[in-house]
Amino acid sequence: MWYDVILIFVILTYFRAIEGKRESVYQRSKNRISYGRESEDSGRPYMVYNVIIMKNGKVKSCGGALASSRYIITAGHCFPEDSDIWSIAVVYGTNDITSKDKGHQVTKTYIRHPLYNVRSDGFAQNDIALIKLDEPLNFTDKVQTIRLPNKSNEHESFLGASATVSGWGLTETGHPSNVLKEANVKIIDDDIICRGPSSLICAIGTNDETPCSGDSGSPLIWNDVLIGIVSSGFCFSDSYYTRVTRYLKWIAQNSDIKINN
Ligand SMILES: *[C@@H]1O[C@H](CO)[C@@H](O)[C@H](O)[C@H]1NC(C)=O
Ligand SMILES: *[C@@H]1O[C@H](CO)[C@@H](O)[C@H](O)[C@H]1NC(C)=O
Repeated sequence: MWYDVILIFVILTYFRAIEGKRESVYQRSKNRISYGRESEDSGRPYMVYNVIIMKNGKVKSCGGALASSRYIITAGHCFPEDSDIWSIAVVYGTNDITSKDKGHQVTKTYIRHPLYNVRSDGFAQNDIALIKLDEPLNFTDKVQTIRLPNKSNEHESFLGASATVSGWGLTETGHPSNVLKEANVKIIDDDIICRGPSSLICAIGTNDETPCSGDSGSPLIWNDVLIGIVSSGFCFSDSYYTRVTRYLKWIAQNSDIKINN
C-alpha cells in the first residue's frame, strides 16, 4: 500500500536522521541505551520498534515487546494525544531496523491505560499501552513472544534482582542506534519514588558503562520475563519502569495475551 511505503521511507531516512536532535516528551527523560552493548542476533525476538506518526506530522519512536501474535506491550506516553495519532508502523523480526529482511506492519489500533496521566513532578502514572496488529504475526526464530509474569508474581518486589533493558534509543554518541542495544540494570528502592507499594520499578546501571535506560516503551526483562516498561530514565542515574505485575489483569482484559496463575 502506498502509505505503507511512505511510512517505511520516513522511518529509515528522515526520522532516524533527526531523532538524535529531538527532545524527549519528558524534559527530564533521556531514554537512551548509553554505553550498553549490541544485542545478540535474534537474541530478543520479542523486540519491536514502533514509529508513531501524528496527524500534525510529528513522529515518535518507542520500543515494545510482542506478547501475543497480535499484541505489543509498550508505554502509554508513546501516545501523547489520543485523537491525534495518524498511524503506527511496527518493525519486527530484526535487530537492525534498517535491514532489508525486517518485518513491518502498519496499524492504527492501540489501547492506552484509561488512568494514564503525567504527574506534576513529571513522572507518568499507569504508563502502559497495547498496540494491536491487523494481521497476526507468524512465529519464527526471529519473531517470538515475551513471557509475562504469573499472577502469583503479583506481590514480588524484584528488589536487588538483575534485569536487562534493550532498545534502539539514543546512545552515548547522541544518535539513535540502528542496531538493538542492551544494558544490565539492578532493581533498587532507595529512590523515594519507588518505596512502598509503588507501581514503578526503579533500577540503576550495574556498572558505570551501562547507566541509562532504553527507548520509551522498551521492555525490562528479568529471567526471560517482562517485568517493566521504560517510562523515564536519567543517564548516569536511576531509570524508571512501569511495574508490569500491577497491570496483568488490565492486559488480560484488553487483549488476547494469556496470563498464568
Ligand atoms: C503468515 O503466513 C501466512 C501463510 O503463509 C501468510 O498468508 C500471512 O500473510 C503471514 N502473515 C504475516 C503477518 O506475515
Ligand atoms: C509461571 O508459572 C509457570 C508454570 O507453573 C512456571 O514454569 C514459570 O516459571 C512461572 N514464571 C515465573 C516468572 O515465576
